Amino acid sequence: DAGDPVKGQKEFNKCKACHMVKAPDGTDVVKGGKTGPNLYGVVGRKAGTEEGFKYSDALIKLGEAGEVWTVEDLEHYITDPNSYVEEKVGDKTLKTKMTFKLAKNQADVIAFLAANSPA
Ligand code: HEM
Repeated sequence: DAGDPVKGQKEFNKCKACHMVKAPDGTDVVKGGKTGPNLYGVVGRKAGTEEGFKYSDALIKLGEAGEVWTVEDLEHYITDPNSYVEEKVGDKTLKTKMTFKLAKNQADVIAFLAANSPA
């Protein structure tokens, strides 16, 4: 079922220690840390390709394997990033740099990110 982007923005408080949501014109949708990539526009973006961010081999391989982030894929990824990459790439030696797992409200958080991913 579709998530609620307003609830999702609150839930994004769990993400902002590591992620900002910053539009190309410089607007801070959410001010956040730089441990992880800027998540503005992540829905529809190829995995591991935010300009200037140093990704793990795991995220780069995921992108090379053809992952273009959909709402559904993102809901799975944030639930357990390493399992997701292992399933998609088929290599459990690849580890992502994102150790955080979101156990609930995934659809809301991703609805918020989708609302900040203009086509
Ligand atoms: C990567 C979402 C929480 C650190 C990513 C990516 C997404 C994401 C979608 C892949 C982006 C891309 O391919 O460009 C989220 C969401 C969170 C969250 C929605 C909250 C629910 C966190 C937290 C941390 C973190 C709390 C730090 C403790 C990272 C790092 C990467 C990453 C380091 C890069 C992974 C790599 O290169 O292997 N995150 N994240 N994230 N995230 Fe998060």
